[in-house]
Amino acid sequence: MNDFWRSLSFFQGGAKTTVKPTTTFIMTKKPVPGQARHVIWLSWKLVILLCIVFSFVALFRLHFQYEIPSSSAPPFRHVIRSRGPQDYFKGPAKIAFLFLVRRDLPLDFLWESFFENAAVANFSIYIHSAPGFVFDESTTRSKFFYGRQLSNSIQVAWGESSMIAAERLLLEAALGDPANQRFVLVSDSCVPLYNFTYIYNYLMASPRSFVDSFLDGKEGRYHPKMSPVIPKDRWRKGSQWISLIRSHAEVIVDDEIIFPVFKKLCKRRPPVDASKGKLNLKLQKQHNCIPDEHYVPTLLAMCGLEGELERRTLTYTQWNQSATKMENKGWHPTTFSYANAGPKQIREIKRINHVYYETEFRTEWCRTNNTMVPCFLFARKFSRGAAMRILSEGVVGPFDASSLLDASSS
Ligand SMILES: *[C@@H]1O[C@H](CO)[C@@H](O)[C@H](O)[C@H]1NC(C)=O
Ligand SMILES: *[C@@H]1O[C@H](CO)[C@@H](O)[C@H](O)[C@H]1NC(C)=O
Ligand SMILES: *[C@@H]1O[C@H](CO)[C@@H](O)[C@H](O)[C@H]1NC(C)=O
Ligand SMILES: *[C@@H]1O[C@H](CO)[C@@H](O)[C@H](O)[C@H]1NC(C)=O
Repeated sequence: MNDFWRSLSFFQGGAKTTVKPTTTFIMTKKPVPGQARHVIWLSWKLVILLCIVFSFVALFRLHFQYEIPSSSAPPFRHVIRSRGPQDYFKGPAKIAFLFLVRRDLPLDFLWESFFENAAVANFSIYIHSAPGFVFDESTTRSKFFYGRQLSNSIQVAWGESSMIAAERLLLEAALGDPANQRFVLVSDSCVPLYNFTYIYNYLMASPRSFVDSFLDGKEGRYHPKMSPVIPKDRWRKGSQWISLIRSHAEVIVDDEIIFPVFKKLCKRRPPVDASKGKLNLKLQKQHNCIPDEHYVPTLLAMCGLEGELERRTLTYTQWNQSATKMENKGWHPTTFSYANAGPKQIREIKRINHVYYETEFRTEWCRTNNTMVPCFLFARKFSRGAAMRILSEGVVGPFDASSLLDASSS
């Protein structure tokens, strides 16, 4: 009897439901005649059967409690699925460069030189561009990009959830090649600050993803209706420009729970439109959210994966602080031109070795696999002139004058 209850409470684990034995189960020791003994035996069988059913009900309820994520529930593990043997790929690992672009790649001449200095077995390229836009001789100077656009690309509206949908398409395509072990998202104005070998060793040395992720207490982009699927304490903010390990790329592509919530409740507030007159007052009170600044860090926080992150971005952005708050976007990124992309400026970016997160009073010393390293491998936003300058300075590899001539002639 006691053993039975012990095993039942074992089954129940941490569930709140408690089952108390009642007097019905007290066994009598009085000897009984044959017929009565048979009846007692039968009712015992019934009781045991009931107990088994009962414990299954308890198990079932326990299971259900785990299905509803709340801040006290364990991390959001059930979005994590195993994809089988691809995870244990042996062989030369590749970095997948995921280009998220509007149309063409204006800085292709710089990337050409960058990939020229790589081993072809060490990288792959995927491009998400406007639907129907094709990368070939007529649209790019670099053979590395020929035919690399996704055929299933979608129309992307900046600041909308279509942006994260496009990121997910890129990750999904890149997961198709088991050799891809690191996934780096780059924009059409992004440049590498080092040669391929340096970037390859930096990323491969780290068993973690690089995802900018911090608490966003004040900004009010969290929508109360996101609860209980996304509890407020797991809401994160961070740069869109991420570098992922394979298992985290899988989590993002497999997510069927958080993405729909973003699609529904994380929308950008429309910009002030003079023609709408007084309606603007009402529109500006609408909830404002920028999906690509929240989705990945929030999803990974919900999955309890923050311990597998370097919580910083690898892509440097210079913010123009002189832009006033009254302007639509507040601070906005500076675009580097030929004049301010000189060796001194680039050296200063490369020298940065820590990042301070004001909202958390956290200083992030930049490391890869516990070794102190420069924080940034990439930078944005670069004009063509600025990209030509860093090419001619030999930033991505030995300078080859003919590539610059090719670039300026077209
Ligand atoms: C390519 O990857 C191999 C390891 O798979 C590494 O030894 C080699 O240095 C890499 N080449 C370049 C150019 O990064
Ligand atoms: C790549 O860059 C690193 C550091 O900037 C340098 O030490 C190395 O010699 C470069 N390698 C090549 C192949 O250019
Ligand atoms: C990471 O660091 C450890 C200890 O310093 C070292 O043994 C290991 O080889 C490093 N891993 C890579 C991939 O560089
Ligand atoms: C910063 O923003 C101001 C106002 O929008 C603009 O006038 C200025 O040129 C910008 N500076 C840089 C370096 O982009």
